[in-house]
Amino acid sequence: ETAEKGGYETFMLKEMYEQADALADTIFDRVARGDGVDLDEEGALDEAILSRARRIVIVACGTSYHAGLIGRYAIETWARLPVEIDIASEYRYRDPVVGPGDLVIGITQSGETADTLAAMRLARERGATVLAVTNVMGSQATRDADGVLFTRAGLEIGVAATKTFTCQVAVMQLLALRLAELRGCLPAERIAELVAGIRRLPSAVAEALERLGPAVDTLAERWWQGDFFLYLGRHVGLPVALEGALKLKEISYISTDAYAAGEMKHGPIALLDEMTPVICVATDSPVLDKVVSNMQEVRARGAHVIAITTEGNDQIAHHAEAILPVPRTDWMLQPILAVLPLQLLAYGIARRRGLNVDQPRNLAKTVTVE
Ligand code: G6P
Repeated sequence: ETAEKGGYETFMLKEMYEQADALADTIFDRVARGDGVDLDEEGALDEAILSRARRIVIVACGTSYHAGLIGRYAIETWARLPVEIDIASEYRYRDPVVGPGDLVIGITQSGETADTLAAMRLARERGATVLAVTNVMGSQATRDADGVLFTRAGLEIGVAATKTFTCQVAVMQLLALRLAELRGCLPAERIAELVAGIRRLPSAVAEALERLGPAVDTLAERWWQGDFFLYLGRHVGLPVALEGALKLKEISYISTDAYAAGEMKHGPIALLDEMTPVICVATDSPVLDKVVSNMQEVRARGAHVIAITTEGNDQIAHHAEAILPVPRTDWMLQPILAVLPLQLLAYGIARRRGLNVDQPRNLAKTVTVE
């Protein structure tokens, strides 16, 4: 087992540091030709079917659901298609309105999650086209779907998903961009710019992982005994906040809440006191000013703001007790980078608490029963 960990103390740590390579494998040959995205690959859906989709429905569980949430923003913004997304265990029991013309995307790392498979089957029975986004060749999801797009993250052993998540986000962004191309929704220059941004993601991830260590350690040392963390974000920063909160909860057993920052005043603000760390996803975006206002509200209650920021934007540091900067990229692509410090922070805290991060209590890597 020590050999399998390749010198890392845990599988989760190894898998977090494999993210640059995993992304490179997932991305590169799909953006190798010219300035566009190529998803015309074996097992994938016929592009004529992609072009005909009138609506997208995303179903998934856990971390895969968070990747789906990011995919929704990309598909709506770039390809101008309506997107519905639901947790698979909810979708399958709500007699959903779905049928021909709908493209249903089941995102499942393992390809074996019972609820996601059931949601996909239901949609297919009702006449929808079903696409699986999975990391495992030959998994049940690949057999139940009309087409498959693989994440190529390699085997993930740690129960808490890390590299499969960033690769799922990348696949959803590639799909969104391809849909935009097929539908003629974005100018060629914007597509070229986004493709260039996607190509740079693996090296940006490597840089971020290399630089974040000391700042994350300081924060983990300061906060590892905390008993509650609040996570806030807006727009694509919201799924990042949800995922950061899930990571911490899963491996450190600390209770967390994650909220749309604008919704804070409708509840979570009542939880804040001088003991509360509040993690704010405050990377550059058109909604950054709004996030900063929320950070000010948090500080006015005496709570402690830890902000995920974009390198080079020094303004945000004035509104936070600590910052975790990540490399700059197009703001729609930022989630892949912004989640990294949150994975590392959850890890640093859980390890300081002496916990088994690879196999947290009560959790399974793959949930094949309801
Ligand atoms: C379990 C795992 C999570 C995962 C979820 C969905 O809860 O512990 O890490 O996100 O299942 O799994 P899937 O294989 O469908 O992505």
